[in-house]
Amino acid sequence: MQDTYLNVRFTSYDNKDQVRAFPSFSLLTSPDQHVDLSPSIVARIERSFEDKKTDFIPVFTDEYHLLVLIVNKDLEQLRLDGAALYTRLKHERFENSVWREIEKSGLSQQEQYAFLEGFILSSYAFDKYKTDKKTQSMDLWIAKKSFVSLELDKLSLLAHAHSICKTLVNEPVNYMDSLVFSENVEQIGKQFGFQTEILHKEQIEALQMGGLLAVNKGSSTPPTFSVLTYQPQDAINAKPLILVGKGVTFDTGGYSLKISGNMLTMKCDMAGGAAVVGTIAALAGNKIPYYVIGLVPATDNKISSNALVVDDIITMMDGTSVEVQNTDAEGRLVLADALHYAKRFDPELVIDMATLTGASAAITGSFGTAVLGNEQHEINKLIESGELVYERLVQLPLWKEYRELLHSSIADMSNLGGPIGGVSTAAAFLQHFTDYPWVHLDIAGAAFIKETKGYRQSGATATPIRLLYTFIEQKCR
Ligand code: BES
Ligand code: ZN
Ligand code: ZN
Repeated sequence: MQDTYLNVRFTSYDNKDQVRAFPSFSLLTSPDQHVDLSPSIVARIERSFEDKKTDFIPVFTDEYHLLVLIVNKDLEQLRLDGAALYTRLKHERFENSVWREIEKSGLSQQEQYAFLEGFILSSYAFDKYKTDKKTQSMDLWIAKKSFVSLELDKLSLLAHAHSICKTLVNEPVNYMDSLVFSENVEQIGKQFGFQTEILHKEQIEALQMGGLLAVNKGSSTPPTFSVLTYQPQDAINAKPLILVGKGVTFDTGGYSLKISGNMLTMKCDMAGGAAVVGTIAALAGNKIPYYVIGLVPATDNKISSNALVVDDIITMMDGTSVEVQNTDAEGRLVLADALHYAKRFDPELVIDMATLTGASAAITGSFGTAVLGNEQHEINKLIESGELVYERLVQLPLWKEYRELLHSSIADMSNLGGPIGGVSTAAAFLQHFTDYPWVHLDIAGAAFIKETKGYRQSGATATPIRLLYTFIEQKCR
């Protein structure tokens, strides 16, 4: 059986000084037949398939050890099956596997893709700071004949973009502050083919980004504002789609200090920003013909004698005065300036993503993301994409009454909405700074998880990259 094989190689970090090292995937065509599939084994499986009428994907590992996977046809179940297979091969320390789908198994290309997606996404591990790295490199040899139309390059790039996003989030703030983050953005731009411009403190001051500067007051690291531009020549849209991501590199709460348990994992508070970077990397890497701009305001939210305090009144970039009633509601302050900045691009649509409220996490758990906005048609499309990739969205209201809850008697607005509707009042605050079609994703629940589940390992999940990638890819169809 003369198949060509593709090699999927998972590598890990080489050493812990490599801040910019990410696990990578490469698809190499094997010039010589690496593993020979015995025709008699294949024939035997095909016969048993015909007898039993089951769907399965056989995987041959070293020494022709054979694993047969019975699969059903739910896409998410297939991803989980892929993850289960990866875990099994890893535990059994197989370094070489051959995967060959039996042609008569009846699995569609989409179903095979989902299975492989689960497999590949499972391979990420953040083991950079472990002396004893358990991650091994593993070769999966895929019979190209069976998978020729599977868009393996696309999947490989998407997985790489996921790794990058996860690592940006998993890195603690003492390795990933706003400056290191923006240096990474520049380097990723070069690697994947999009433009980057980093605004530093002087420029941020000149632009009078009062929200970002206010949150940064307690920090010894200056803020950065990353602008990512992916404008391919063959773009089908004239006005850009803008992705805005919250880039709070660590959220102590500021003087409205988080009680200790709540502060744990708050290195994840730039997961929105990291997802913007990952999404644009995947789009650029795969040369999707869509004009997209990314904006990521970045700072930590810490305390010093100069830090923002409650009762402070600050002036945002658009001139709005805000009475700070809780320094832990910092995400909306940094995002507001970015949303105002977006106006200069005359966007067709702006989607912001942020680990914005505990209230959102309380509603969705880690199972999904809250969506709100002023453009129902786009929200519906996003919900559809979310179902497809299993990064599900649930829509919450943005009634005008929520705006009234942000009333301040001495400034234009308060940054605190009170005890009810926390997701909606946060969104209502953001809405004040928009004058274009806009969708807000509160990813506080799904962005960072405690326990590994299927192909999502503990730590950063890189949500909503697959959702946005699919949403934008479908606009190009
Ligand atoms: N970064 C937090 C929200 C968060 C909570 C993210 C849990 C991930 C998991 C955000 O800055 C915050 O602290 N929000 C406050 C807002 C409140 C003070 C209005 C919250 O949710 O308590
Ligand atoms: Zn906060
Ligand atoms: Zn925060």
